Amino acid sequence: MILGLGIDLVQIDAFGAQLDDAASHFTRATFTEGEVAYARSAPSGEPARHLAARYAAKEAAVKALDLACARAGIDAPRLSLNAIEVVCDERGRPRLELYGAAAELATRLGADRTWVSLSHDGPSAVATVLMERLA
Ligand SMILES: CC(C)(COP(=O)(O)OP(=O)(O)OC[C@H]1O[C@@H](n2cnc3c(N)ncnc32)[C@H](O)[C@@H]1OP(=O)(O)O)[C@@H](O)C(=O)NCCC(=O)NCCS
Repeated sequence: MILGLGIDLVQIDAFGAQLDDAASHFTRATFTEGEVAYARSAPSGEPARHLAARYAAKEAAVKALDLACARAGIDAPRLSLNAIEVVCDERGRPRLELYGAAAELATRLGADRTWVSLSHDGPSAVATVLMERLA
């Protein structure tokens, strides 16, 4: 059963400065250390596009969770974006890891599985997220 769906589109330009100031409040509140490290070491040589795609995935996850909350009649709590992490496997396939309040909310909603897909091209990055309950 699908519990929630989200999509987000962002402009990559806005994320260039984030890597210059990896210790900024925005960066720490938004990205995990693993995400910043992934962006810095990506073979594209364009870290901003990977951060932008991850930001889009976090916003898409918030939308999916918010829709699921509305369906379930739950007041959606405010979530820190760094409680939602994009992790890639050895082949580059992304998945979402949820921590803290985001993980607790997913459990409360009965979300057993989360799907995420990212894309970036030219000036834009986009991500979609699907929350699913098994059986
Ligand atoms: C997946 C693939 C299509 C990406 O295409 P692309 O147009 O270069 O890249 P996009 O900008 O649209 O998407 C990039 C994102 O795709 C995701 N991605 C990479 N490999 C992926 C894969 N195998 N499956 C799903 N998503 C993948 C990543 O999140 C990546 O973003 P990131 O580098 O910031 O983490 C390309 O890498 C590919 O063809 N890989 C081989 C997959 C394959 O042949 N599998 C066997 C058949 S199913």
